[in-house]
Amino acid sequence: MGKRSWILGAAVLVLALTACGDKGDEASGDGSSGSGGETKVVKIATDASYAPMESMDKDKIVGLDVDFLDAVMKEAGLSYELQNTGWDPLFADLGKGEKSSFDAAISSISITEDRQKTFDFSIPYFESVNMILTKEDAKVADALELKDKKVAVQGATTAEDLMKGIMGDSSTSLKRFDSNTLALMELDQGGVDAVVADFAVVQAFVQNNPDMHYAAAYDKTNFAPEYYGIMLPKGSGLKPKIDAAVEKVRASDEYKAMYKKWIGVEPDTTDLLKTK
Ligand code: ARG
Repeated sequence: MGKRSWILGAAVLVLALTACGDKGDEASGDGSSGSGGETKVVKIATDASYAPMESMDKDKIVGLDVDFLDAVMKEAGLSYELQNTGWDPLFADLGKGEKSSFDAAISSISITEDRQKTFDFSIPYFESVNMILTKEDAKVADALELKDKKVAVQGATTAEDLMKGIMGDSSTSLKRFDSNTLALMELDQGGVDAVVADFAVVQAFVQNNPDMHYAAAYDKTNFAPEYYGIMLPKGSGLKPKIDAAVEKVRASDEYKAMYKKWIGVEPDTTDLLKTK
């Protein structure tokens, strides 16, 4: 507990800035913050407690989303900085539209109809699905079996929505946490029977903790495919540039290589590349 809470504290507290982009290109007039004609740095928010997608490695934010973002911003000719804000603050900020202090967010954010009412999204860049994580001996084969168990999720995620649908809106057995790391700790400590989160995160957690005997289960009947997008304040002028760059990068060999590096296998991008 001691060591873990320290790591978690560090992840939450450290504001890691990764300034990248090799050209100091101008982003003025396309929705990035600031005023005047000076060179703009696009400010991007993330919740870096979702390995292998985004997490803190000492004071650096690393992960597939981070590598993908870098490739996209290079392709778009934009310089940027990425900051670890946490999950709820990221939505609160970009929800302010033109008044938001960030220009975009990348954080394994699934494009949903509900979110599209408040935010704009890039075209999809990653196909995901929620997955069930339990201790090996729990033997949960599908999500409906979680109805009478205790489940932890990160609040305000698609996992929360799905589990509310199964367990009921007011279920006291569904525990919401501010970060997925806290949900995982709850399972580790025996406070819940399962965690529901995106497959890449669940699989990585099982692999990284072999002696804890965790098990991961897909339920493709109750959990539908989801697509991640880069989230933007509504009406952002950055969308055309970012979309064009995402379209190129998601179809590239570079994308396959970074996917393999962080997820361990090559992606099947057949469905992804059909999405707009
Ligand atoms: N894909 C899920 C959603 O959009 C979970 C994403 C959580 N991301 C994070 N960095 N904690 O709701």
